[in-house]
This record gives sequence, C-alpha cells and structure tokens, in this order.
Amino acid sequence: MIRAVIAGTGGYLPARSLTNDELAAEFNLDTSDAWISERTGIRRRHMAAPGESTADMATAACRAALAQAGAEASEVDAIILATATPDSAFPSTATRVQEKLGVTRGFSFDISAACTGFIYAVGVADSMIRAGNCRNVLVVGAEAFTRILDWTDRGTCVLFGDGAGAVLLRAEDAGCAPNPRGILSTHLHSDGRHGDILQVEGGLVRMAGREVFRHAVSKLASAVDEALAANGLAKSDVQWLVPHQANLRIIDAMGRKLGLPPERVVVTVDRHANTSAASIPLALAEAVRDGRIKAGDMVLMEAIGGGLTWGAALARF
Ligand code: COA
Repeated sequence: MIRAVIAGTGGYLPARSLTNDELAAEFNLDTSDAWISERTGIRRRHMAAPGESTADMATAACRAALAQAGAEASEVDAIILATATPDSAFPSTATRVQEKLGVTRGFSFDISAACTGFIYAVGVADSMIRAGNCRNVLVVGAEAFTRILDWTDRGTCVLFGDGAGAVLLRAEDAGCAPNPRGILSTHLHSDGRHGDILQVEGGLVRMAGREVFRHAVSKLASAVDEALAANGLAKSDVQWLVPHQANLRIIDAMGRKLGLPPERVVVTVDRHANTSAASIPLALAEAVRDGRIKAGDMVLMEAIGGGLTWGAALARF
C-alpha cells in the first residue's frame, strides 16, 4: 500500500517581529498587550519586509523542508501551495515557487481554503500520491497576511502575522506493515452559508470574532472525533496535537478534549500570531526540529478558517 510519508519539514519567518505594544504604537491602535494576550495568547508576530513576497517566504520554507528530507529540488513532482494572500491571481504563487526552486518539471497550483488551506493541501497531495500520480510533493502554507489587514480595525489587525511552512510528502510502499508511517487520513469540510463571518471584502479581512469562535470549538471537535473514528483510534493514541494557531483558548479547548497535557500541544500563536495557512506547517517544523516530534509519533492536525472551511489530518511520523 502506498503512503504519503512526511519526509521533511521547514519553516520561514520574516526577520521583523513586533510585540503587541510595538504594533499598537506603530499603527496607532487603541489596544493593550493585556487585552490581546489575555483573549488570544498572542504576544508578538512577524511581518514581511516591503518587497518580501509570499513566494519568497514559501521558497525559503520549501528549501528547509527539502534539506531536512535530504532531497533535491529536481526530485519534486508537484508543489501544492495554500494561501489566502497570493502574490497575484496568476501566475499562481506555487508556480513562482517552482521557478525560484529551479524545478522545471511536474506541476504546481494554489489552494484557497483560508486558515484550513494546509489541511486541504495535505488532503489533495495525499490522494494524488496514493493514486500514483506523483511521488514527491511539496505541500506549503504561506501568507503575507499583514498585507490584507485593516489597521483601523483593532478587533482583527492584532490577530495575524506573516510566515511560511512546508512539508515534503514522499510516496513510500508500506507493504503490509501493521503501523505504517505517513498520512493516515484527512477530513475536509466547508459550509458556504457562513461565508460572511470571516471574509476578505474590498481587499481587507472582516471578521465577526464571537461567531467564528463559536463555530471553531464545535466544528474542530467534530473533525477530531471523525479523524479518530476513521482510524479506529482512541484519544490516548494521539501523542501530539498540532493545531491551527488562531487563539490559545481554542487550542487549549482542543487539547483538553483530547485529554492531552499542555506539553503535548504544539503552540506558536504566542510568537507567530495567526499565520493562516502557514500556521500548522510552521508549528510542525518547529516541533520536529527541536526534537519533540519523533519518528513513530501519532500527530493530529486540525484547522478552521474563512469559508467556512475546516478539517483534520492524522499522521504517523
Ligand atoms: N483591544 C482592545 N479592545 C478591543 C480590541 C482590541 N484589540 N478589539 C476589540 N476590542 C473591544 C471591542 O470594541 C469590544 O468593546 P465594546 O464592548 O466596548 O464594544 C470588546 O473589546 C469586546 O469585543 P469582542 O469582539 O466581543 O471581543 P471578544 O471577547 O469576542 O474577543 C476575539 C475578540 C477576536 C479575540 C475573539 O472573538 C476570538 O478570538 N474569536 C475567534 C477569532 C479567530 O480565531 N479567528 C480566526 C479563525 S481562523
């Protein structure tokens, strides 16, 4: 049986990082570090430099993932890139990354599923690998999210940051192994009836925060249950939760639901804020690089975002 194994992970964060107080001062916001950190857990975020594109950040993350996998760019069959902040409608950001990496074969395309984009991209890549369409796929989440924020709306502009994360998914024949490595399953959902509670309108993000919060807790919980049931797993089989990083209260609620101690939940929202499609691969890359996530560990990923879109993915490293 062919499985998509996570062969490498990589992340990139722009050099500039602003604390809540620095952000408030720079954009003249009527807010406070206490308000932001108590409600969201966010203490700082990175901001792309002028001229630093989504493709630039994505390319850096892809290079790191390839290096960790010991793979060459020439081996890449496909690049699937999730973003809500593409550099242009076309060429896609994925094809810009393809060019920057010097990849001249295969195919590349973007996925639009807001903060759930990485889970969607993993789902598409996993299906294509299992179907035998490609062997080495770069799956990327990359965002220059601070470029679509309304700096007069203190309810949203304090919540987001920029960055990119990537994984190299590689086809591996697991044979009849009892506990094969790789993506076990993905579970994708959307419901367009709730599109207006989190959307880009006139080029800027608009959000009904309380409504989004309410949907997040119930929809993420059901996606987690679905992922476990599909694999016949119990909560106690999960070693790591790598959630979308929007709000520490939502992350904590999912950790409690799984019965995981806080040290088994990977958290970056305090330092990165919400980097939308980039948040899960950035968190994964950090936890793999610092040795927390090890070969054989069962990792549960979940996300919700504009659309509404939501979903979960289970992987054994
Ligand atoms: N600083 C200070 N006060 C702020 C503020 C800020 N940055 N942003 C909003 N406020 C004020 C509001 O104006 C409001 O004041 P009022 O009562 O005088 O009108 C008050 O704080 C409460 O606003 P509200 O939006 O109801 O706050 P909340 O408790 O719901 O918290 C969020 C706001 C955004 C932190 C919270 O709703 C949330 O985290 N939602 C989920 C968002 C999310 O995860 N989105 C991404 C999904 S991918």
